Amino acid sequence: MRIRKKSWEAEELSSNRHLVHEPEQYKGKWHEYFGNDKPIYAEIGCGKGRFIVQNAIENPDVNFIGIERQTTIMAIAARKVSPEIENVALIRGDAETLGDIFEPGELSRIYLNFSDPWPKKRWAKRRLTYRGFLELYKKLLGGDKEIFLKTDNTVFFESSLNEFCETGWSLSNISLDLHNSDYEGNIMTEYEERFSSMGQPIYRLEARWKQNGADKEGN
Ligand SMILES: C[S@@+](CC[C@H](N)C(=O)[O-])C[C@H]1O[C@@H](n2cnc3c(N)ncnc32)[C@H](O)[C@@H]1O
Repeated sequence: MRIRKKSWEAEELSSNRHLVHEPEQYKGKWHEYFGNDKPIYAEIGCGKGRFIVQNAIENPDVNFIGIERQTTIMAIAARKVSPEIENVALIRGDAETLGDIFEPGELSRIYLNFSDPWPKKRWAKRRLTYRGFLELYKKLLGGDKEIFLKTDNTVFFESSLNEFCETGWSLSNISLDLHNSDYEGNIMTEYEERFSSMGQPIYRLEARWKQNGADKEGN
């Protein structure tokens, strides 16, 4: 997503209290950061922030961390978080650095919403569901090790299905047309609104990785 730099972005990023500037210092201490023991859900590539903000408002018993690598887009997301919202933190950074930011088991769920599809075969390793990323998420997730994914992109969805299956994840609640399914409580992202208004069906799945998956692999 190319987006023009905003005149106000530097000020927003430096003054917005939801932005965490040296997130590595909270590795293993995110519950201390939030001041509670509530589960922590991360959205990787949170874009302009509509999903994470609405999710945080609807779920005060969860802490949410949005990770976004583009500065201007992160500034737009930061503007959406009202000062009184306590359960959102935002990190401007790349998914590749997640291992420097979180201890194994520190996250309870990861959301991947409309991740960049990188449709050409030679770009497959850049996809946020490439097996290297899935192995990283597996380490950082505790409990049921849940990933919730939505996309409009067929190539990305098919390759994600393959990557999850190849790396021992169990899939459930798969939908090939989310908006015409019986799934309740969907929170739309900015991209989701744009693509669905063009008539594009939205794909969704939930992936979980259980210990018996590890046994099967002999890990
Ligand atoms: C297609 S947009 C979707 C944004 C939002 N999730 C939505 O559904 O409206 C993908 C977003 O992921 C971000 N992104 C892509 N790769 C990333 C990475 N490796 N780490 C962090 N953010 C990433 C992009 O900058 C972009 O804002």
